[in-house]
Amino acid sequence: MSGAQVITVDGPAASGKGTIASGLGRRFGLPVLDSGLLYRAVGVLLEREGGDLDDAAAAAAVAGRLTAETLADPAFRTRGAGEAASRVAVHPQVREVLLQLQRAFAAQAGGAVLDGRDMGTVICPDAGAKLYVTARPEVRAERRWRQLTGQGESVSLDEVLADIHRRDARDSGREAAPMRPAADAALLDTSEMTIEQAADAARRIVEAARARQAP
Ligand code: CDP
Repeated sequence: MSGAQVITVDGPAASGKGTIASGLGRRFGLPVLDSGLLYRAVGVLLEREGGDLDDAAAAAAVAGRLTAETLADPAFRTRGAGEAASRVAVHPQVREVLLQLQRAFAAQAGGAVLDGRDMGTVICPDAGAKLYVTARPEVRAERRWRQLTGQGESVSLDEVLADIHRRDARDSGREAAPMRPAADAALLDTSEMTIEQAADAARRIVEAARARQAP
């Protein structure tokens, strides 16, 4: 598979990568995969059936049953879902089940935008443009706190900051596909940027990468 038309957007929680990925999808006319949603769905559905998030086989079985319909659930956007996602995401068996699905999405004719933690390192190492989006933990906590309280969740900024630190440590410290920038990814720190500035910077990075590829 050639990933020339694929754009990968990786980075930690609330770095702005979701907004950037959907902006790139609109700008370049590409479908967008929010891979975090897959892990969120596995975590929440496993908890709903009374399963244990540390049970790799049970989590992999849930991953194998995901469908487009099951993914459309607002419950996957909650604070608890993010935590459950990062717990099931440590299991290599879960990642293996979700790998095929993500690679199939990436292989669509015309390309795709892939948003996640290991898109540029594991899912599509030959992507034509790779971004790694970061922001300071305090900035990310503030963004996530606004999102969660806007959804009606009752949580303090300090609790959200603690969540962010815990999730960063788990996502970058795990053995299976740890969160890290691909060697050839462009780093984009959005700490001091508005959404529009970040979207613009991302677009320029992709255009530059595509210009380098052009014959
Ligand atoms: O929106 P946020 O960045 O908080 O989270 P997300 O992108 O929805 O991902 C939720 C969790 O799923 C992450 O903390 C990771 O543990 C896991 N994940 C992963 O391991 N690999 C991916 N490609 C995407 C998400």
